[in-house]
Formats: sequence, structure tokens, C-alpha cells
Amino acid sequence: MKIIPKPYFYRSKDGKTCFSSSSEVIASDVVEKELAFLDFEKGENNKVTFEIGRTDYDYELTIDGNISVKSQTEEGLFHGAMTLKQLIFDGYKDGTSYIDNCVIRDKARFEYRGFMLDIVRHFFPKEVILGVIDVLALVKMNKLHLHLSDNQGYRLESKAFPVLNEKGNMRKGTCGDGIPVGGYLSHDDVKEIVRYAGERYIEVIPEIDLPGHTLAFLSAMPELGCTGEQYEVAEHYGIDERILCAGREENYDFLEKLLAEVTELFPSKYFHLGGDEVPKTHWEKCEKCKEKLSKEGLKNFEQLQGYFTNRVVNMLKLHGKTPIAWNEATYSGTLDGDVVCQYWSDGRRAERVVREAKKGRKIIVSKRVPYYLDMTYGVASLKDAYKYDPVELFDESAKGNVMGVECPLWTEYVATEEKLYSQAFPRAIAVAENAWYGGEKDYKDFEERLLNVLGMLQADDKNFAVLSDANPNIFKGTWSTIKFGLNAVDTVAIKSAINMLKAQKGRKL
Ligand code: ACM
Ligand code: ZN
Repeated sequence: MKIIPKPYFYRSKDGKTCFSSSSEVIASDVVEKELAFLDFEKGENNKVTFEIGRTDYDYELTIDGNISVKSQTEEGLFHGAMTLKQLIFDGYKDGTSYIDNCVIRDKARFEYRGFMLDIVRHFFPKEVILGVIDVLALVKMNKLHLHLSDNQGYRLESKAFPVLNEKGNMRKGTCGDGIPVGGYLSHDDVKEIVRYAGERYIEVIPEIDLPGHTLAFLSAMPELGCTGEQYEVAEHYGIDERILCAGREENYDFLEKLLAEVTELFPSKYFHLGGDEVPKTHWEKCEKCKEKLSKEGLKNFEQLQGYFTNRVVNMLKLHGKTPIAWNEATYSGTLDGDVVCQYWSDGRRAERVVREAKKGRKIIVSKRVPYYLDMTYGVASLKDAYKYDPVELFDESAKGNVMGVECPLWTEYVATEEKLYSQAFPRAIAVAENAWYGGEKDYKDFEERLLNVLGMLQADDKNFAVLSDANPNIFKGTWSTIKFGLNAVDTVAIKSAINMLKAQKGRKL
């Protein structure tokens, strides 16, 4: 049974069933196309039927001479097809596939099974994103979160504010290399990505990070900042003090127009508003921000972030969206209770997340180690990602508010498609397993099943980290971590660390 994620229920039966070009497949066009992924020759005449019907599961798959998939939804039928696709690959030899007869009854552990791609730090065009969607679909992930704006670029066409993508997409270099990095998704690109993902039951969630991580906005529209100064798109990484002014009323008009455009482009239920790593130093010196603080009766600048974010939340709600924010956005203590909190920060900040969950806030778990895919495998190995229990932090009163998991791939040090794949896979496949299957863990069993999926990636010319790199020994792991550390250190990294401390100043945990 070489399936990832592991199904909820599997019972083997005697015999094998042939899948070949003689098999009559009765399914949607997308499922038919997905199952025609190998060169098939003639075999036994049998039927492969995908049918809507009553079941208590997401789907039921029966293989006993014929093959049948039943579900109450088209989405469930698609999930059944992804299971079958893996079984076909496993049994494939010389133009036909012989699959062990079995009954599978399957359902997901979490409703939110996500992968995040940062296309700011390095830009990845539509074609790359579509390729990633294929892998996500194969392992039943259902959310693709795109990080679209940050200090290092604004990566989405705006017809309402063309200057954002025209000016904000281009940085002059990266950490002093002098090589320009640009690119953005056009509206047509987005429509194609959304359609392709939607056919595979994956929701594409845009993130416009607010009010920090906004230097690309300010390079294009300096009036949005506290000082009005003209800045450049950042060439270095890390946290920056130059952020959107929360006191300037026109900024909210601007955001209303921008978000109207972006929410229409992405038909997702969720919308990510960022909210991470917001130093308040510019706000503390800004007359407009101070005026807003006193006029609104706010106690401190953390609450000003709460005020700013809640205004954005209201705009998103008007467009029917459920907002998501990184965990720092909850620190004001005033954040709208409907905002989903994406938990990433390690350490004591996790206590705040637990309190939020206990109060009823919905949580997505993206704990930095082991779920951040930009980490070297020496810091967060495949085994670490597999073994991590996403609800370990939460007691019975809070567990039910964990909506699911997401593994983010930040791309500061991911400049090529090859590197994207070797950082993401196979770790994201382990996260997909945790997102879907909640039963006992057995790493060896997972690894055996993983080999089949990695074979599928290989057959599709997709890169991944081989197991000896994904679970490095102590020497290999330490060396890869040192290399990563040396790569990441530049003078601006030190400044960013200071900004991080400033961002945390005065915060009650
Ligand atoms: C984050 O890693 N700053 C969300
Ligand atoms: Zn200001």
C-alpha cells in the first residue's frame, strides 16, 4: 500500500486488478487526464468508475477486478483519483499496472492543508507555480498561499495602482550582487493559476503583508509612509522599520481600493494580511500616528497595529473573506476574533497562540522548526517534519481550534526552480501526511511509501532532496547549517536583528 498520505482505512483483498489502456475510465476530464500519466498498453477490459454517491467518508475506493471510486463530492472523487494514481504508478511495468485488490475508506484529519510559496524574495513565474500545484494535489494538499508583497518586491499586477508592480517589482540587486531581480504575476497569470489549482481542489490564498514588510509599497508610493521619503525596494533581507503609516487616513482609502482589486482576482475564502514583524519606531515619531493613537484612545503602539489590522479586516470581510494573519498580529490583544492566526514563531510566543486558541481563535500551525521549508535539513530534517505533532502545544480545550497546518517556503536563498524543489520536497510531503492522517506514526513505513511518490516526481523530472540529504547525519547536517548561516550573514542581517528586538519591544507575551 504505497500511498501518501496514508489513508484512514485500508483492507487488502485477494488478487490483483489490471489498469491499462483497455480500462474504460468513466470520470471527469481532469481525473481522466490525471490518470493518463504513463504510457499504457492494452490489458484486461475492465471499468474504472468515478461516481457521486452516499458515503460517510471523503471517498471510498474499491479495487476488485474493476475499480470504483465513490464520494459525495467531486473533490472527494479527485482525492480518490490521486490515491489511485499512486497505486497505478507503484504497480506499473511494461505498459500495464497490476494493483493489489483492496478497499480504502478515507477522510482528512484537517480541513486546512497548506503550502506557502514566497515569490517576492525570488520570483517564480506561473509555469513553476503550476508544477508545484501538481505535487500538492498528488498528496491532497488543498491550500496554496502565495506571499506576494514584501520589502524586496511587489509581485502582482495592479490595474488600480500600476506603479506598484511597475516600480515595486524591481530591486537593483541582492545583498550587493548588483543583479536586478524583478517579475510579477499578471491578472491573466493569476486567473490561470486559480483555475488550474481549483480543478485540483486547491484554494489559492493571496498574502499582502501589512503594515510591515512594505518597503516595495513605499518605493512606489512614498506618501504611504510616515516620513514621505522616497525609498528603494530592499536589496537586503530582514525586518525593516520603514512601514505603512497607520495615522494617515488616505492610506485606508488606498487599501480599500487595492484590496477590492486583489479580493476580486482571487476567489478564495481566505485572505492573508500578513501582520508579522512590525517595528513601531517610525510610528512612535510620527505626528499622524500619535494623533490616531490618542484619538482612538489606544494604550500603546501595539494597539495601533491592532487598530490598523482591524480596519483591514473589516475591508476584507466586506468582500466576504476570512482573514488570516501571522501570530504577531494577535499581540495587541484587540485583534478581531474572526481572524485566523498562523502560528510560526518558536519559544515563549507560542504561549500567546495557545491562549488565543483557548479563547476560540482558529489556528494554522506552521511552527518554524520543523515546518519552514527554507530551513536546512540539518536544522529541520524530513524525519523532524514527519514526527512533529501539530497539536502537541494545545490541550483538549484548544485542540479543536487547530484548523490545520501549512509549510512555508521563504525564498531568500532559493533562487532557482531546482532549489525550490529540493527545499520543499520531500519535507512538504511529510507535512501533507500529517495534515491528512492522524493515526499512529511509523517513520520507516512512511519512508517506504514516500519512495513511490519520489519515483513519481522523478518520472516527472522534478527535483527533490534524496533521503541521505533530507535526513543528514550529524556531520553533513552541521556543515549544511554552517553554510546556510554564512550565506545569510551580512551587515544588514545584524541591523535586522536589532529591528526584530525593536519589533518585540513592549510586547506582553
Ligand atoms: C515570518 O516568518 N516572518 C512569518
Ligand atoms: Zn505614521
